[in-house]
Amino acid sequence: MGITLRPLTAAVGAEISGVDLARLSDHDFLAIERAWHEHAALLFRGQTLSDDDLLAFSRRFGELDPPPNQERGRISPPGYPDVYVVSNVLDQNGDPIGALGAGEASWHTDMSYLDTPPDASMLYALEIPPSGGNTWFVGMQAACAALPAELRKKIEGRRIKHDGTYNSGGYLRKGVTPTDDPHAAPGAWHPAILKHPANGRPTLYLGRRRNSYVEGYSAAESAKMLDEVWAHTTQPRFLYEHTWRLGDLLLWDNRSTMHRRDPFDGAARRIMHRTQIKGTVKPIAFGVAA
Ligand code: SIN
Repeated sequence: MGITLRPLTAAVGAEISGVDLARLSDHDFLAIERAWHEHAALLFRGQTLSDDDLLAFSRRFGELDPPPNQERGRISPPGYPDVYVVSNVLDQNGDPIGALGAGEASWHTDMSYLDTPPDASMLYALEIPPSGGNTWFVGMQAACAALPAELRKKIEGRRIKHDGTYNSGGYLRKGVTPTDDPHAAPGAWHPAILKHPANGRPTLYLGRRRNSYVEGYSAAESAKMLDEVWAHTTQPRFLYEHTWRLGDLLLWDNRSTMHRRDPFDGAARRIMHRTQIKGTVKPIAFGVAA
């Protein structure tokens, strides 16, 4: 059976069928890479992957980034420092085996508090709760294309401070001094609208809402504007909601999507393994020559 593609929504995402990611030909990898640039998030159902398989597939896209520093530091399965565990499950000592617990993870793009954030991430479902824990994606290129002109004018050419104090679960990152002051917080400045290095299209690059700040405005003006931009961006017409099945793998482009996760029953188990593909270039503003 050959590889097939089915768009998930008009704004973001496609499902790829007919491939076994543990045994992928170069020809099929190139088709996947092209689809990823075009649709920004790719779903592969029914995969059976060891951590070695997950790493091998991830490395086809480039060098890997180590996991983010989360509430308990960087947690990986023994012997797999590039694999990040997202889980609410506790070990025999009562310590979490992963990050983010069972609560909501708010909208974000991964590790944008770095000067060169990862180009991509992928998440593989090993254990899932009977309900809840859905992961949502927003297509940032579609949201950017539909930005009202007045709003676009206010942020185009500006940079946004991407905060590195708290993670998407609202937890303070290990070793970081708590602050809600965007000027004092650790993080990075990135263009509000960047040029996607692979497809050349403009994409909104917001990171996460907490502690976010648009340069050149007062704190109050920046907050008002960001509230408007976020309300626009997270409209249902730009979203895809993913209901997980065991063996699903989702691959997303961190430059042209954001994601969030619904909470789920903390008494249920959810174990996901994630990898991050290191960024190759710093985000550049749309309209600025590279
Ligand atoms: C993440 O933000 O990478 C985790 C998303 C999820 O748990 O579904």
